[in-house]
Amino acid sequence: MPDITRRTLLLGTAATAGLATLGLAGCGSPGTAVGASSEAVRAAEAARRPAGQRVVSARLAPKATTVDIGGRSVQTWAYGENVPGPLLRARAGDLLRVTVDNALPAQTSVHWHGLALRNDMDGVPGITQEPIRAGGTFQYEFTAPHPGTYFYHPHSGVQLDRGLYGVLVVDDPSETGRYDAEWVVVLDDWVDGTGQTPDDVLAKLTAAQATDDGMGGMGGMDHGGMGGMGGMGEGMQSRLLGGAGDIDYPHYLVNGRMPSSPVTLTGRPGQRVRLRIVNAGSDTAFRLALGGHRLTVTHSDGFPVQPVAADALLIGMGERFDVLVTLGDGAFPLVASAEGKQGQALAVVRSGKGAAPPADVSPAELTRRVLLGTDLTPTDAVRLPNRSVDTSHDLVLGGSMAPYRWTINGKTFADSAPLDVRQGERVRLRFRNMTMMFHPMHLHGHTFGIAAGGARKDTVIVRPMQTLQVDFQADNPGQWATHCHNIYHAEAGMMTTLSYRT
Ligand code: C2O
Ligand code: CU
Repeated sequence: MPDITRRTLLLGTAATAGLATLGLAGCGSPGTAVGASSEAVRAAEAARRPAGQRVVSARLAPKATTVDIGGRSVQTWAYGENVPGPLLRARAGDLLRVTVDNALPAQTSVHWHGLALRNDMDGVPGITQEPIRAGGTFQYEFTAPHPGTYFYHPHSGVQLDRGLYGVLVVDDPSETGRYDAEWVVVLDDWVDGTGQTPDDVLAKLTAAQATDDGMGGMGGMDHGGMGGMGGMGEGMQSRLLGGAGDIDYPHYLVNGRMPSSPVTLTGRPGQRVRLRIVNAGSDTAFRLALGGHRLTVTHSDGFPVQPVAADALLIGMGERFDVLVTLGDGAFPLVASAEGKQGQALAVVRSGKGAAPPADVSPAELTRRVLLGTDLTPTDAVRLPNRSVDTSHDLVLGGSMAPYRWTINGKTFADSAPLDVRQGERVRLRFRNMTMMFHPMHLHGHTFGIAAGGARKDTVIVRPMQTLQVDFQADNPGQWATHCHNIYHAEAGMMTTLSYRT
């Protein structure tokens, strides 16, 4: 009962907050903003609900805790006692009812990354709800419309860069037995509890000021007790991505473990295993390969692609890939190398006898054929139907290290002009990266098709100086965050709102 009262109250406030946000930059915008709790949002949700809908209930308890990341104990914030948080699992069409009891010493929120869900459950404070205060409770309740591999994380500050993330798998009831086993593989870049928190890292980045030598305060970062972090920005270069990140992390993890004490994924020779791979990192793209094996990529961001073989996969923050592997006989390294950085994450795949690979193993597959999400082709079933574009928006990506500021169309989020659309329109977004870093751009509430004829995705790597177009059907009314999934970039301004208007 208290839940219901509280939720009603919050929804009322959220609608106002949404309107206020839009009012700031809405000069010249036609019509009225479609609020997070509006009739249009309720109608879209009602249309998603099948008769006799099954309910899946879960509880998340974000809190401060100590976790073992594989031979090192760190203080962090997590969903319970473990990192990653609990695996949530539902079938497409189910109603998810997730109670969040916030035991953190800070306000939080939970965002359901990649899901085309009802807007008022999208978990973005300031756009779709009030933050969940310390000690407070919020109940998320929404239909999971599409099968696939998703994840959840806070949309509050840089909390994602703590241990606050978990995987949500939405099963396809009509999919049968194309694999013998399934492993969930979550990649992360780790700093929390190693002498500084992500908030400390952000504070140091934003304290950097422009100076005559153009290096800003970055020299200070090198001497300022970064506790194992090698410095910022300069030097983190990738042949595939250009500028590859701002933060040189002390650790990289697979399923919460460092390479010195990795998780073991166990199977049998000849088994066909589906790997659901999630990059939950905040500032790191990972290049992933399984020694002695090829990967057959079957899904990207939850949606099926025409299966394609690859030696390695490059995975931006917020991207997910499902791959199939047929297991050999032995012990093999599953390596996720921090692209353009020093260090890697590791899991051991064991299907037979043999010594476990060393922590610094570097399988040859890592430097063979590397696939990106932009290389994939959708299956016919999910290909975006051809239609003429009704509304186009340019998103010019800009920014600088000193001052630490990242922008869309020259503005940080607080000053950003919303991207107006109307329900039913075909919309084109044109990402124009004018920086020398890559940005994994993420759209909430929708899955776009990469032009022309590319995969269906919700997060896509945009390389330095690249222009990339994506199209989608405006079929999910409300106010939706659109941002870089480098969480430090998003927090330093690289975010705007896709705004449905009447
Ligand atoms: Cu995982 Cu707004 O994002
Ligand atoms: Cu970015």
